[in-house]
Formats: sequence, C-alpha cells, structure tokens
Amino acid sequence: MNIHTYEKAWLAAAMVLIVGFIATITYGAVGPGIAMIDDEAGSIDPDNINDHERFGDPGVEHVGGNEYEVNVVAQAWLYTPDQIEVPENSEVTFYVTSRDVTHSFSVVGTNVNTMVIPGQVSEMTVQFDEPGEYGILCNEYCGEGHHTMEGLLTVVPEEEFDLTELSVDAPREVEAGNETTINATVSNGMQEDLETTVALDIGGQQYEEDVTVTGDGSETVEFPVDTTELGTGDHDWTVTADGYEDSGSLSVVEPTDDSDGGSDGGEGDA
Ligand code: CUA
Repeated sequence: MNIHTYEKAWLAAAMVLIVGFIATITYGAVGPGIAMIDDEAGSIDPDNINDHERFGDPGVEHVGGNEYEVNVVAQAWLYTPDQIEVPENSEVTFYVTSRDVTHSFSVVGTNVNTMVIPGQVSEMTVQFDEPGEYGILCNEYCGEGHHTMEGLLTVVPEEEFDLTELSVDAPREVEAGNETTINATVSNGMQEDLETTVALDIGGQQYEEDVTVTGDGSETVEFPVDTTELGTGDHDWTVTADGYEDSGSLSVVEPTDDSDGGSDGGEGDA
C-alpha cells in the first residue's frame, strides 16, 4: 500500500501530539504533587470533633526533631487556630477538617491548597526553610462570611520558637495571717526537656525555683505567700517563666473574727 508523504507527515505529527498530551496530563497529575483528598488521613464524625484526639484541642504539636503537626478545624467562617506559629527549617504536616460545610485551606505562597470537607481529614506536608508570614485563605465559597475567613501562618526564627505555656492559679482574696499559695504551671509542648526558672514577685517579695519540664509534660510550682509580711491591702503579683508572664492581684483582708460569735459586740468597735 502506498501512503502519500503528506499523509505520513500528518500521522507522525498527530502521534507526537497525542504522546505530548498524555505526558503533559501525567506530569500534571503526578509531578507537582497535587493530590485529591483521600481517606489516608482518616475520616471523622463532624458532630464529635470536640472529642477527637487530634481536633479536640487543635494547634501545633511537636512530633520530634524538626517535624511538627498542625491540626486545624475550619468552620463558617473561621479557622481554629487562626494564628499559627512554626519555626524555620521545619517540616510541617497540616491536618484540616471541617465542622460544617465545605471550605478550603490555602496557605498563600506555598503548595498547600486543599478542600476541607466535613467528615474528611485533609493532610499536606510542607517544608519551611525561612522565616516569613503566609496568609491563610478559604478558596471555597462557604456562605456570606466566606471573604472574611482567613488566618495567618508565621514562620519564626528557631531561637524564638517554643511550645511553652504558663498558667497561674492564685486566690483573689485571703485573710491576713492565713497561709496561701500561688501555683504556677509550666507546660512544655516540645519533645525535649525544658529547663527554666519560675519566678514570683508579689508586693516586693520574690520567690524563684528552677524546674525541668520533661518533653510533652508539665510542672507545677507552689509558692507559699507570707500574708502577714504582705499586710492588708491589694498586692499585684507577676509570675514569669521561659519568657512568659502572667499577673494579677491578691487582696489581703482583715480576718473576720467569728471565734466568740460576736453576740455581745465586745470586739465590734471598728
Ligand atoms: Cu470557608 Cu469560604
């Protein structure tokens, strides 16, 4: 059979185009790392997110080394948390789910851009080498507040990053002469131990204690406060640990004397 030269040329060109199309589509599907949401990261009951081990208390978790996990809950029209901080030179895996309708979670300037579907968990991993700020946006129309649905991811220098939390449990009022304590709890979200000094300053009295908080643990320091020495009145206190600070005020009041019933008003001359 004799095929005309032009016809051969057109056949060859068509073959090249077909192979080219297939190669382009294959690269587009595999090369840039774009993936559909699958059930690899698991599914979830959107009505019971608050009890979920990952999403009950969303936020940044240290996995070990330079690896972090960030758990985010999307709902109309906010992300929890909406301010995320991770250190530079970190490998961050985001797990995102939705409480209500379909949203998206897009970290502008990175390849993180995923749909967030109720009942599904979206998972993406990104490497952050340099400090910087990235906006977080919802790209999926989700109702009248859609355009306000945003957050901020901050990549901070390594030396500025920790997962320390300080919480203080202090009475507001105590009778003079009674013993009281101010309790400071330092929790450490990193996997490595944290060595720090917990300090209390109240009305000029200073207390200090060195603590080692184990990785993923917490430590409570009880500071006994001498109310006699403080005297009656309001006393401001400040607790510091690992660069964090909490403060409040303690009122030391006159003891109410109810030891003899006070029926004769013998001491009621005030
Ligand atoms: Cu959520 Cu748009």
